[in-house]
Amino acid sequence: MDSELGLVDRFEMLRGIINPDYFRQKVRPLLYAKAGNDAEEVQELVIRSLHNSDFYLKLLSGLFRRPRELMVNVNGVRLMPFGTAAGLDKDGAAMLPLSRIFGFLEPGTVMANPREGNAKPRLASADADLDLYNAMGFPSRGLENFLINIKDYRKKGGSVPVYASICGLPLSETDAIKVAMEQMRTLVQALSPYVDGFVWNPASPNTTALGLLRTKEVFRATAELIADEAPSKLRMVKMWPYEPGAGQEFTGFVGSFIEGGGHGVVVTNTKMVPGENVPSEKWGYKSAGRSGRFLKEYRLRAVRDARSAFPKAVVVATGGIYDGEDAYQTFKAGADMIEGYTPYAFYGLGLLNRLVKGVCEGLRKDGYGSLQKLQSEVKANAGE
Ligand SMILES: Cc1cc2nc3c(=O)[nH]c(=O)nc-3n(C[C@H](O)[C@H](O)[C@H](O)COP(=O)(O)O)c2cc1C
Repeated sequence: MDSELGLVDRFEMLRGIINPDYFRQKVRPLLYAKAGNDAEEVQELVIRSLHNSDFYLKLLSGLFRRPRELMVNVNGVRLMPFGTAAGLDKDGAAMLPLSRIFGFLEPGTVMANPREGNAKPRLASADADLDLYNAMGFPSRGLENFLINIKDYRKKGGSVPVYASICGLPLSETDAIKVAMEQMRTLVQALSPYVDGFVWNPASPNTTALGLLRTKEVFRATAELIADEAPSKLRMVKMWPYEPGAGQEFTGFVGSFIEGGGHGVVVTNTKMVPGENVPSEKWGYKSAGRSGRFLKEYRLRAVRDARSAFPKAVVVATGGIYDGEDAYQTFKAGADMIEGYTPYAFYGLGLLNRLVKGVCEGLRKDGYGSLQKLQSEVKANAGE
């Protein structure tokens, strides 16, 4: 494991991967102490450690269950529908070790060019609420670096599906849409041979010029562009959370993306909140994207709305999925796949076993032989 972690720390990390409560109570404070109480440094330390721990993750993978009744087909690919959300592994530096555990990966958001993102501190943790606040501003080592990582992943036998989160980012309002589209084309063309699909993320709350991309015309045109360049790949759009009553606007955007050739939607991104809500004295931004437990109602609303408006679409759910019952209810609401970031930051990767167990229990209790059966029923009911 990472040279920055001593022998005892490494052992603790591994214990934390096995036991989520141990991770929460012992390993997380240990990582914070190592990283000088800097939430972003903790994140980087974990990714660096994972990067160097494939051997250990391979050994531990036997402890992670992949029950046959949970396997599903998505766009012709058979997978275990439990994955990592964008942001967790921004540059794809830990794809192989993560693939030892998860059923699919959503690395990124990958940008065409390297970017520093906003000044630090730009990530804060609210431990009591199990939430994170961020104003990262799309830091990315860029496409070239990601290509090295994804080629390495495939070369070493990485076989778990990868859906790259991507975005063309206009830096100013001049020619914003043209610039964004050109970058999207570059990203899709370069990554297509190595990934199973794309998630277009136009929804960073902290990046002003991106606002110009949030029109139905651009949603349709972006889906057309990806379909044109990558006709066999899964094509998704990541959406932001919305309050009750805004469902029509939401389905309007998603509908335009699907009309353009998209397959569906990932819900939900972080929720924009005022900077003064962030529990950090050093916070210098007037807003932040909040993620974690409170997103549950937003996630379930968006999953239900998407499923009822688009019975056949692919719906991927994220946003504070902390326990097995919640994971099961999310599938019942209409999700094809679930993914997470913040819950794993608080409880470690072992949390996945709890989600898997909870979904298996739910299926058994309700008399479904498999998750695919539940999903077929939910889709058939939505189409009536
Ligand atoms: C620090 C941080 C960075 C994130 N970066 C991205 C990103 O680059 N692209 C993206 O689409 N979502 C990003 N997200 C949003 C997550 O993918 C996810 O949608 C959101 O956090 C809600 O899910 P969760 O509660 O499981 O984290 C980020 C979230 C956090 C906390």
